[in-house]
Amino acid sequence: MASQTLTIRKPDDWHVHLRDGEMLRKVAPYTARQFARAIVMPNLVPPVTSIEAASAYRQRIVEAAGPGFTPLMTCYLTDHSDPDEIARGLAEGVWIAAKLYPAGATTNSASGVTDIRNIGAVLSRMERIGMVLCVHGEVTDPEIDVFDREAVFIDRILQPLTRDFPALKVVLEHITTIEAAQFVSGAGPTIAATVTPQHMLINRNAIFAGGLRPHAYCLPVAKREQHRLAVRAAATSGSPKFFLGTDSAPHARHAKESGCGCAGIFNAPFALESYATVFEEDGALDRLEAFASINGPRFYGLPLNDGTVTLERAEVQVPGEIEGLVPFHAGETLHWRLAG
Ligand code: NCD
Ligand code: ZN
Ligand code: ZN
Repeated sequence: MASQTLTIRKPDDWHVHLRDGEMLRKVAPYTARQFARAIVMPNLVPPVTSIEAASAYRQRIVEAAGPGFTPLMTCYLTDHSDPDEIARGLAEGVWIAAKLYPAGATTNSASGVTDIRNIGAVLSRMERIGMVLCVHGEVTDPEIDVFDREAVFIDRILQPLTRDFPALKVVLEHITTIEAAQFVSGAGPTIAATVTPQHMLINRNAIFAGGLRPHAYCLPVAKREQHRLAVRAAATSGSPKFFLGTDSAPHARHAKESGCGCAGIFNAPFALESYATVFEEDGALDRLEAFASINGPRFYGLPLNDGTVTLERAEVQVPGEIEGLVPFHAGETLHWRLAG
């Protein structure tokens, strides 16, 4: 009989959106319940571009999440980012990574980088001081088909970037394609990727199943089945280059169910249950711990967490709504439950 519980070292989420204000207070406890630490994305309005803003935001997160949770902050890169400020924020322990949003690629990316050449000095400094660059890897060229934007980004931007800055540590966030899985697998040890639950569980059909499904829409958008399988194979392969990043990205229900709905899936409440489902289906439950709790800290050069979490085999009914938001797996039954 298959084991009824799975205990792993306490995991971290290497890519999450916790928002601010009322939304922060609603969603932060769900991430804090599952994870010891999380890399918090800086795409607020206005974006988190300064040391002062990141410190203040970190304090608000700590208050909203409660004890036992450590937010790891990121700095939002713009055309005008100053290498000295970026390096000082790292040295002072305010942030641990910088985030590249190509301008216009995703939610609240309007202040992002319009041309990678504008941040050459920043990237060069980050390479020198060993600071991680987190990347939303999609081109914004309207001529490029939305389903091809990640693959084209790898060709046009990421390949040249890794040539120009060979020692720069880069995390290609929320990968969705065969091209991304292959690029990261084939690259040196300075290149890694995060993988969301949704990109291992749904393909693009989910967005159109019986009608338009706004709660299955996120960016990068889910791709064809062959891509889902490749991303999933990479994540469950045991390679240290792939680790957990939920990309939990809550938007108010009315903002999702709209004539121009926001991109983002709120998966924080059942994230570990969701990942465990995937790893079990692929006969890789023994690799979940490395993916969730070891590969990320090793890449970022941080200590592993103390303590453990236990998942129990149990039927869990995912509510249709949590805090007024529609979660990933709404209305479905999952077969794992996080104990405690
Ligand atoms: C994210 C958000 O809403 O902030 N949305 C998403 O679809 N993933 C932004 C992002 O991670 O690209
Ligand atoms: Zn993104
Ligand atoms: Zn994100």
